[in-house]
Amino acid sequence: MMLPHSGGDAPDRDPANTMVVFGDWHGNTSWARYALGTVRTKHLANYYHVGDFGLWHLAPAPGIPARAWQNGRAYMQAVNDSLASNHATLNVVLGNHENYDALESLPTLKDQGVRAHPDYPNIRFLPRAHMMVDPDTGAHIATLGGAGSIDKAFRTPRVDWWEQENITFSDLEAFREKAAAHREAHGIQRFDLFLSHDAPKGIPLLDQRSGRGLPAQVTPDLLAELNLQRMLLREALDTAAPHTAVHGHWHFHHETIIDAVSVSGEDYTVRMIGLDMDGTSNNILCHQLG
Ligand SMILES: [Fe+2]
Repeated sequence: MMLPHSGGDAPDRDPANTMVVFGDWHGNTSWARYALGTVRTKHLANYYHVGDFGLWHLAPAPGIPARAWQNGRAYMQAVNDSLASNHATLNVVLGNHENYDALESLPTLKDQGVRAHPDYPNIRFLPRAHMMVDPDTGAHIATLGGAGSIDKAFRTPRVDWWEQENITFSDLEAFREKAAAHREAHGIQRFDLFLSHDAPKGIPLLDQRSGRGLPAQVTPDLLAELNLQRMLLREALDTAAPHTAVHGHWHFHHETIIDAVSVSGEDYTVRMIGLDMDGTSNNILCHQLG
């Protein structure tokens, strides 16, 4: 189901087979406005976001200063207004720094568990495991949101950290079932695009970085927990066997070609792209489908 766009008739769609993906915005209103302005000329109806979008407090709650939820609502309003002026919807794969309590309070649309706030209907939060066809290009997309926080020792539960952030084995199982159903329904073997917040395990550049110079709060237990998140994502990646995969979370841009083996034992090659954070040019990806 597509939400209605506000702001007049939609323009003609870009025929260039392009998809737009953004990464970590962290509730940065001015950057979000700028990023959405740069892709306005693409005339796409759907953009994608790989998490740490900045879903934060949206309503008064015990222990939450008024400024926090007022800022949270102002950010959502600004993003929604920019999207409406682009005649576009943003499909958000959630990260770790998101308010999962706020998410769970939002109504579910009639679209496989997608949620949206009634006041900000152009922002759609995808369920953790989700399959869809991009309405602009026809690309088959598989997503698995969630991630662990390296800094959770410095955060307060339900104030600026939510325990629901982690990907679970149940999420992976849901991903497998949904991927199989999507394949059967559409008669495809491989997905065009895999979107996640954290990076799947097996990207040499990141695997090397994760073993060096870690802050003192990263205990062996936390490191194992974080690695498990990436292993679950790798299993999902090899389930989807996509042509391209995009992630955020590391605030580090890379493009890496990986030769892999799918869960069904077939060789495949995937182009992995890591997006940098808000305020950097590599936070905005205009991906040309092959
Ligand atoms: Fe993150």
